[in-house]
Amino acid sequence: MSNASNDLFASILRPNPVESDYAISRIEGEIPRALNGTLYRNGPNQKIAPTAGNGALHLFDGDALIHAIRFDDGAAHYRGRFARTESFEREQKEGVYCFGGLNIQAEREIESPPPNVAPNTNVVPHSGRLFAMVENAPPFEMDPTTLDSKGPWNYDDKMLGLSTTAHPKIDAKTGQMWIHGYQPIEPYIQIYVVEPDGSVSLAEAHDAPWPAMMHDFAITENYVIFPLGSMQFDLGPLLEGRRFSDAVKGRSDRAMQFGIRSREPGSEVRWFEAPSCGFMFHPGNAYEEDGKIFMDACTYEDPQGLLDSLDCVRGAGDPRGFAAHPYLYEFDLASETCKETRLSEITAEFPRIDDRLVGYKNRWGYAATSEPSEDASGLFRRITKYDRHGGPSVNRAPVDGQWVGEPIFVPRDASAEEDDGFILNLLHDAHRDASAIEILDARAIDAEPLARLWLDERVPLGFHGNWLQAT
Ligand SMILES: [Fe+2]
Repeated sequence: MSNASNDLFASILRPNPVESDYAISRIEGEIPRALNGTLYRNGPNQKIAPTAGNGALHLFDGDALIHAIRFDDGAAHYRGRFARTESFEREQKEGVYCFGGLNIQAEREIESPPPNVAPNTNVVPHSGRLFAMVENAPPFEMDPTTLDSKGPWNYDDKMLGLSTTAHPKIDAKTGQMWIHGYQPIEPYIQIYVVEPDGSVSLAEAHDAPWPAMMHDFAITENYVIFPLGSMQFDLGPLLEGRRFSDAVKGRSDRAMQFGIRSREPGSEVRWFEAPSCGFMFHPGNAYEEDGKIFMDACTYEDPQGLLDSLDCVRGAGDPRGFAAHPYLYEFDLASETCKETRLSEITAEFPRIDDRLVGYKNRWGYAATSEPSEDASGLFRRITKYDRHGGPSVNRAPVDGQWVGEPIFVPRDASAEEDDGFILNLLHDAHRDASAIEILDARAIDAEPLARLWLDERVPLGFHGNWLQAT
């Protein structure tokens, strides 16, 4: 089945593999002078398309074109550069789609191929370095200013698994970057700590009840939380190089489990079973209070439906499995129980907070959302701001023909209160077939944007990004 949703996905996600460098000149409104720093963004952007067309690509397939939008005293500059991994460079040299994707085979066998690495999911500044990240490879380092490729970083040879994910958690109080890895062979989970000076101070591995895709995780002041979804790897099809969808299956017979361990070195993981089956790409935040851990997340209640949708969004198929809802999980550390509450009927993804509060109690959250009535495409029409103190959510009104991605919060200055700052958001305008960076006042997200910066080159909506404050 191909329908309007697939066409929309295909249009919004279709690659635009252009590396460019220019001062942004088409600016509506005024860029706040308080914004001084760089917004980095990442997403799949396949340079050499398969002969079968980009519709044959899985949602996760594609080379990593890193975008850096530098803000300086009311002006903005765009730079885009590919993460030039060995496999990327080799493919350019061969001039043919020769590494394959999650759904399709390479079009030509090449001799001694390097590992297929496309760090296309997130881009994270830490310890003076910039990492392009994807969950099936180690981080790929790039120059924070020029975006020149430096190469893979393997945690000073301390890796205990094959890869780490694209979702590190940086504790703003300690400056530590916590990051986990997962894999379909034992040990199923690994955890690392990278100190502010870039050294690796912790590398430990854990078993899990079953091997599952674990895209993201959470930390609190004293704990680490691993969300194990109702989804399981099957090693057989993986080893045979079959499609991703043959190698991972939804398990509606298994409730989610959450592994919780202390941040202290050498700690054991305790597993907490949730009442329901589900899968999450992204927690919003987690924190401790009164002997409990509270964690909000965007949860898919039908993991197999999600997997089917991931498979088909760019081509033909029914993408209605893209329906995550905001949930709150409450872990009682003494009784080892887990409660869950569905917080909203509105589908939501890409939850973010004021990053200075990652792991600590926050009040405000931001996410990309859609009303159930809007469509079932899994794409997002607007930004919603949530009040964890129980106040009403605030929605930015959708604009006809526009779709939005992950909202990234930037504080007005280092001492600003939570929520006192800006939301930076990439939007796709289908009428113009163009992209813009929108700057919203976080305290008035339903007001007109402070500024809208139209980019000279369309940027596929992509996945994640982060802000690096200028020093
Ligand atoms: Fe993600």
